[in-house]
Amino acid sequence: MKTDIIINRDALYALRELPSESVNCCVTSPPYYGLRDYGLDAQIGREDTPEHYIGRLVEVFRELRRVLKDDGTFWLNIADTYCGTGNKGSYTDPKNPKGRNGQAVSIARTAAGCKQKDLIGIPWLLAFALRSDGWYLRSDIIWLKENPMPESCRDRPSRCYEHIFLLTKSKKYYYDAAAIAEPIAPGTAARYRQGRGAGHKYAEEVPGQGKVQGINKTRSGGYYDDALMPTTRNKRDVWLINTVPYKGGHFAAYPPKLAETCILAGCPKGGIVIDPFFGSGTTGLAAKNLDRHYIGIELNTEYCALAGARIGGGNT
Ligand SMILES: C[S@@+](CC[C@H](N)C(=O)[O-])C[C@H]1O[C@@H](n2cnc3c(N)ncnc32)[C@H](O)[C@@H]1O
Repeated sequence: MKTDIIINRDALYALRELPSESVNCCVTSPPYYGLRDYGLDAQIGREDTPEHYIGRLVEVFRELRRVLKDDGTFWLNIADTYCGTGNKGSYTDPKNPKGRNGQAVSIARTAAGCKQKDLIGIPWLLAFALRSDGWYLRSDIIWLKENPMPESCRDRPSRCYEHIFLLTKSKKYYYDAAAIAEPIAPGTAARYRQGRGAGHKYAEEVPGQGKVQGINKTRSGGYYDDALMPTTRNKRDVWLINTVPYKGGHFAAYPPKLAETCILAGCPKGGIVIDPFFGSGTTGLAAKNLDRHYIGIELNTEYCALAGARIGGGNT
């Protein structure tokens, strides 16, 4: 199968033509519900109801599941939408009747069971629908941003996070915990160094040091020194990653570090990462930076060109 390619097509149709069990990992961010207008009839995100939007995504990701290897991982970035609060209503810019390409043109969609101003709950509706469709729902990672988009609201806290769901095809799957391990907290390091203290029931007499230790004791009876002490812990499920400005003409690019973290954990070196909503190609860029291959699928021809130039041009 050809890799390091960008397929300019609707995600569902492009996936249908890829061989089964051929890619290791998917990292993607589909268009959010009712938020932007990417200016093409087949685009996902402008459906009349959340149910229709979720139904289309489930269909795309069902095809992805077929294409994914049995031990593959799927990292899905998604955020929520408020009911009926689109700031442009059904306004149409006469100069851009289909909306400006990718620019935020939210639409005032209502949703069954929601009142105006209610959060619809899109991330969890989608996660539950995917789980019902056969995916294993393994983690809800909070992508926390210190520099979120400013919001004008004064009657609720401003939003500063999105979800990354880790979904898998099987119960057992490729996951390199060591590749994304994080440093232990300074307090934990101090505690390790200190041992359990003289008052602890496992404290022992150490020649020249008095009563100390316990936690630092090795099986062979020696004591850990700093060089032996654990310096990392398993990565937690809140990831602080700030957005980085991308001036290339796409308004919804995620930061390369976000894609890189998912790829490091979810795709072996030399493996293939797919992104069916490729946009400006951040996933492909991250894959190349980490010696993996990529397949990008994107409906919008201009974005395909943008992504190709960006990936070809290096690691920004
Ligand atoms: C949120 S953006 C992805 C941004 C990307 N993660 C990046 O860093 O640039 C979603 C993308 O999905 C594309 N898209 C919308 N509907 C699509 C469809 N049916 N098939 C393929 N791509 C589609 C849009 O054109 C848009 O570029």
